[in-house]
Amino acid sequence: QANNTLLTRRYFVVVLQPRFGLLFDIDGVLVRGRMPIPAAKKAVEKLVDNQGRFVVPVVFVTNAGNCLRQTKADQLSHILGVPEQVVMSHSPLRMFKKFHDKCVLVSGQGPVLEIAKNVGFNNVVSIDMLRESYPLMDMVDHNRRPKLPPIRWETNLQLIIDVLLTNGNLSNVHRTQKTPHLSVLACNMDLMWMAEAHSPRFGHGTFLVCLENIYKKITGKDLKYEALMGKPSELTYQFAEYLIRSQAMQRQWTFPITTLYAIGDNLMTDIYGANLYNRYLQERAARKNPKAIAKMVAATGSTTTVPQDEEIDSLWESELALPSATSCKSVLVCTGVYNPNAEVPSDANHCIKETVFHGHRDFRFDPALVEPGHIVQDVAEAVDLIFEKEKFVPQ
Ligand SMILES: *[C@@H]1O[C@H](CO)[C@@H](O)[C@H](O)[C@H]1NC(C)=O
Ligand SMILES: [Mg+2]
Repeated sequence: QANNTLLTRRYFVVVLQPRFGLLFDIDGVLVRGRMPIPAAKKAVEKLVDNQGRFVVPVVFVTNAGNCLRQTKADQLSHILGVPEQVVMSHSPLRMFKKFHDKCVLVSGQGPVLEIAKNVGFNNVVSIDMLRESYPLMDMVDHNRRPKLPPIRWETNLQLIIDVLLTNGNLSNVHRTQKTPHLSVLACNMDLMWMAEAHSPRFGHGTFLVCLENIYKKITGKDLKYEALMGKPSELTYQFAEYLIRSQAMQRQWTFPITTLYAIGDNLMTDIYGANLYNRYLQERAARKNPKAIAKMVAATGSTTTVPQDEEIDSLWESELALPSATSCKSVLVCTGVYNPNAEVPSDANHCIKETVFHGHRDFRFDPALVEPGHIVQDVAEAVDLIFEKEKFVPQ
């Protein structure tokens, strides 16, 4: 009799596996300078189980690029007390395998040679190495150079232009007719960033503006990027999505991660980027034929980072396999750049009113893309909201 009951009883298996993943911006969301934002600790407590493991896939996505990924990850885990998976603006370079064995000139700040080697480049030349091999190309008086020079752009601009116009052989004279020019991959297109000074400082985006305009002025042609990465570029989100998928696989969460939430404080990078990637995912899901890609380019206004043909798609498909996510939702927090009570219009408000667009040349301004899916006070509230929307109860 008892056995019979057992046999006829219906069993339900409740599987508590996340179907969503989280992409956190770092500055203005989790930390300000070196100090953690108080809500960050609360958010982390909600996100880890009693073994200190994340209960959902989590990736930290920053546009910082002047240090090694591991350095940033160590800083963050020191502040928050959990090991972190961090995506920097240069992280997607790892996917560009066809350049990894080519001779590559790397320009930037921080330990650029080490960074380049870490993302897979095997044959790297720095601006300093180039300058030393061709001292006449750089007119700076070395004797008057301080020990730790301030960031000087003219050497980098000069030598990058030299490399492009000599097609990579500085012993040659400039030749402008060579098309297409050598491939240019750019990481981080932030025009400005907030440091210790009261007003914003030039970011790497400003460096790119200079480079693009010098090239155009000299050659009459547009500088074309092989790829632009860092938020809001889709490349960065594709890479982050791939890491989310890998985390879920490692944890043996077998259901596909279908929804991403991107939490950030900057309308022009975090919100624009998440919404742009959401468009990409939705178009991708809806797409039945390659022609739809052209429509997507028209809709998003991004001519560089949206796949224009099968080529980039196949790059990602071969390197990362297909995304499992079908949507990416943006969540804006008020602990950083964005201030809902600001009397002075924020950068994005300013953009809308004055039609000044601080985004990159190859990204079109679209008011719909800077519209956050949700606005919350801080990152702890963001986690609460997401768990509630997903009806997710951590074990
Ligand atoms: C670079 O150009 C110089 C001068 O035209 C030439 O002698 C040299 O062989 C070239 N180097 C390479 C690697 O092609
Ligand atoms: Mg930020």
